[in-house]
Amino acid sequence: MKNKYGQLSSLVYEVDKPVGVSFGDVEYYVDRLRDVHGLILEPGVGNGRFLVPLLKAGKTVVGYDASPNMLEVAHAALAQHKVKADLVVGDFASFQTEQRFDAIVIPAGTFQLIDSFNVAMLVLARFYQQLNKGGRLMLDLDAAQAIFNSKPSMRKWQVSDHALVTLASTPLSIDYANQVSTELHRYELWENGQLARTELEEFSLRWWSPSEIKMAMQLAGFSNVAVSGGYEYGRAPHSNDELISVEGVKN
Ligand SMILES: C[S@@+](CC[C@H](N)C(=O)[O-])C[C@H]1O[C@@H](n2cnc3c(N)ncnc32)[C@H](O)[C@@H]1O
Repeated sequence: MKNKYGQLSSLVYEVDKPVGVSFGDVEYYVDRLRDVHGLILEPGVGNGRFLVPLLKAGKTVVGYDASPNMLEVAHAALAQHKVKADLVVGDFASFQTEQRFDAIVIPAGTFQLIDSFNVAMLVLARFYQQLNKGGRLMLDLDAAQAIFNSKPSMRKWQVSDHALVTLASTPLSIDYANQVSTELHRYELWENGQLARTELEEFSLRWWSPSEIKMAMQLAGFSNVAVSGGYEYGRAPHSNDELISVEGVKN
């Protein structure tokens, strides 16, 4: 399965980006959500890095994620921080609910894990349907150049006194027509110098241009679509922005 976030991938995400890590997104969205007192949905909720600060800011959040491993880590984070949220296994392409939300928030470039334009359009339409009138969709996109300029890399994380995880990342393909970059991720768990487990993950990301995502949001029904650079709401993205944030309203 693509973009699987299996056992080792989830372990690395938690060691690398636990609750407490912010890319500027936590502060930005807590501020953007200051007037939201109803239900919030976080698709691709992951390990709870972003969820837990939202809950601590007094928000009520429902999260879903395709990875049971990530949700297991998230449940542990909820218990550790003594906060509560409903978390379910669900996929962007098929997640259905009777609940309606005042905001849907997708930080950390997670929307780019939907590597098909057509599926992304269906997901945007479903988000629109799942919002209350006046509700807002907010999502982040990593800059295109960070996605199609990926290079082979090797990283390692000490996960306990006697264990480390390595990640060898190899670019596999770039589809410029469909704006999709694919890497092969090979995770290895080493215990006392012995290889204990390996995990292979095909990892695809789709890049979007600012005007493309704006039109896509408008096509899905959203109004007042704002595309901002560097977590400065309303500031048009620059060529060297590493991050753009997008926000639209259901009227
Ligand atoms: C970059 S992590 C973001 C986690 C968290 N939202 C954060 O901000 O730190 C992306 C998450 O999306 C989940 N994911 C990947 N593909 C998915 C899909 N098709 N449907 C739902 N979740 C998916 C992964 O399992 C992972 O937990």
